[in-house]
Amino acid sequence: MYNLVKVGIIGMGGIAESYIRNLIQMENVEIVSAADICFQKAKNLVNKYNLNYVKLYEDYKKMIDEVKIDLVCICTYNTQHAECAIYALNKKLNVLLEKPMCVTTNEAIDIIKAEKKSGKLFAVGMQPRFDENMKMIKKVIESGELGKVYYIQTGGGCRRDIPNGTFIDKKTAGIGVTGDLGCYPLDMVLHAINYPKPLTVSGFKSSYFGTNKIYNNLNDALRFNVEDFSAAFIRLEGDIVIDFRISWAMHMDSMGDTIILGTKGGLRIPSTKCWNGSISGPLKIYKDKEGQQIEVEVPMCVKDNVRLSYKKIKAVVEAIRNSDSSPIPSYEMLYNQVIIDNIIKSAEQGSEVKIDFSEINELVNS
Ligand SMILES: NC(=O)c1ccc[n+]([C@@H]2O[C@H](COP(=O)([O-])OP(=O)(O)OC[C@H]3O[C@@H](n4cnc5c(N)ncnc54)[C@H](O)[C@@H]3O)[C@@H](O)[C@H]2O)c1
Repeated sequence: MYNLVKVGIIGMGGIAESYIRNLIQMENVEIVSAADICFQKAKNLVNKYNLNYVKLYEDYKKMIDEVKIDLVCICTYNTQHAECAIYALNKKLNVLLEKPMCVTTNEAIDIIKAEKKSGKLFAVGMQPRFDENMKMIKKVIESGELGKVYYIQTGGGCRRDIPNGTFIDKKTAGIGVTGDLGCYPLDMVLHAINYPKPLTVSGFKSSYFGTNKIYNNLNDALRFNVEDFSAAFIRLEGDIVIDFRISWAMHMDSMGDTIILGTKGGLRIPSTKCWNGSISGPLKIYKDKEGQQIEVEVPMCVKDNVRLSYKKIKAVVEAIRNSDSSPIPSYEMLYNQVIIDNIIKSAEQGSEVKIDFSEINELVNS
């Protein structure tokens, strides 16, 4: 059905360049159009890669209405994710949307409603899903070796890595580190345990570093209005809890290892930069054998030279070509978004939030 997959990109900033680098290496895939509210940015980027045939727009709606596109890659900042995705899905286009899925639970619900109505493929760009070491985490849990999982400690972040640009302003990013990096460790563990329903969230957030000119340049410190750290205690269906923390800046070298405790075994995932699929050492399983406490190392998978970002886009292109289901389905990312949104809500109201499932249940069961 799709011999040639025609791609349109919305948002021609940092991540769009990675999309371009990957897309131009794929056979039978062509970037036909691109849009950016800052037209010059789009122009500069296509010029850099000698893609002078790509039709450029300032208005993404015009691009979608005028150009024949099979797949829209949405690479805008977070607050535009939902609007662009819904417009593209309503026009019956396949969509690959960058992470985090969006900003709020309501936006995620609206995206999934549009997806269901369109019958088109929708995926969220979580490239660590294609990392072999990440896949191993799910394999270990699915093997039953850990028994019933009941406690997870996860998160991550940096001692000092505060982004700038559109990432630090609520108007463009909507949320700070919780959405930007937090979506990754949440996905790493939730995907591994088949995304149980989140029930309650007790969240905390702060912005001591981003707003401080000692740690951030003065202009950025003055306009910084998102969180640079968050922590949460999350209850999931099936009597499982997650102890979560994420940071762009802190006085600590790492947030420590991810640990997953089960009734038959525990899994240690050495401190990760899971957003680029990196795990700092072999996974380790702790269990009892013949009455002895033993530890078993799972050797690191040998990485190939193919970038995860390439695999991510390729998986979506192939799913479209073969009429397969989405490689990163929306209903999973909905729960990821619900948790992120409720960490922020809980932190702002200063108390635990019980997640309202009335609309979500209706959506999932429809
Ligand atoms: N998967 C990854 O590894 C990864 C890495 C970096 C960023 N991201 C995600 O990608 C998204 C973009 O990040 P970035 O670093 O490219 O940001 P950026 O600010 O560099 O680029 C965003 C671009 O979108 C454009 N834009 C915004 N609204 C638009 C609209 N309505 N129509 C057309 N253009 C619009 C902006 O003008 C800007 O050029 C973010 O959601 C971020 O979380 C993902």
